Amino acid sequence: MTLKIALTKGRVERQFVELLDKMNIDTAPLKNKQRKLQISLARDRYEFILAKGPDVMTYLSNGVMDIGIVGSDILMEQDLEAFELLDLNVGKCQFILASTTDFNMQSPGRKVIGTKYPKIAQKYFASQGQDVEIIKIEGSVELAPLIGLADAIVDITETGTTLRENNLKIYAWLPKVSTRLVANPLSLKQKKAEIFNFVDELAKVIPSEK
Ligand code: PRP
Repeated sequence: MTLKIALTKGRVERQFVELLDKMNIDTAPLKNKQRKLQISLARDRYEFILAKGPDVMTYLSNGVMDIGIVGSDILMEQDLEAFELLDLNVGKCQFILASTTDFNMQSPGRKVIGTKYPKIAQKYFASQGQDVEIIKIEGSVELAPLIGLADAIVDITETGTTLRENNLKIYAWLPKVSTRLVANPLSLKQKKAEIFNFVDELAKVIPSEK
């Protein structure tokens, strides 16, 4: 039976394709996909779809995909029950609170926080006993404190380049993030062997903890 896999496009996709290469799966159709969104690999053993991170869980919960490859940032923000089978130990990054160098969380007044992750931000400030206003931003979140839309941001950082190049400073480190393999519970029953074979093979090639 074909295993249907929803893969988060972009960074997660690139690092996941490297793992598939290590599993000796011919990934040429994925690498040369151009604008194609549905790709079959290994003589239809796997059918991949490329999706935005927040949509991966939608495909799983609606039962149209068996497995999802998605960042734990998305899983945390969506706060859904997910059958997480494997931490792939790639796509590693970390949530941070960042702003311009003159920012002071303790200065008077309710702070405005720009973020792609309103639930995670809200939870963090609640844990700090701080009442803030959250503004949801879809991308390039680092702009918010630079142009005065927000006092600070809650975002993820991987290499730190975006923060550095925009003269932003990290004020707090929040949870760490990595790519996870999650499964649709019904598929776990119907395609148990296929799913666990894939998970076992993948587990052999994931990088060891650093
Ligand atoms: C993420 C994140 C930061 C950037 C950090 O954005 O929101 O902007 O990566 O990476 P770095 O520490 O390696 O510089 P992404 O590239 O996913 O795009 P987006 O801003 O459009 O959301």
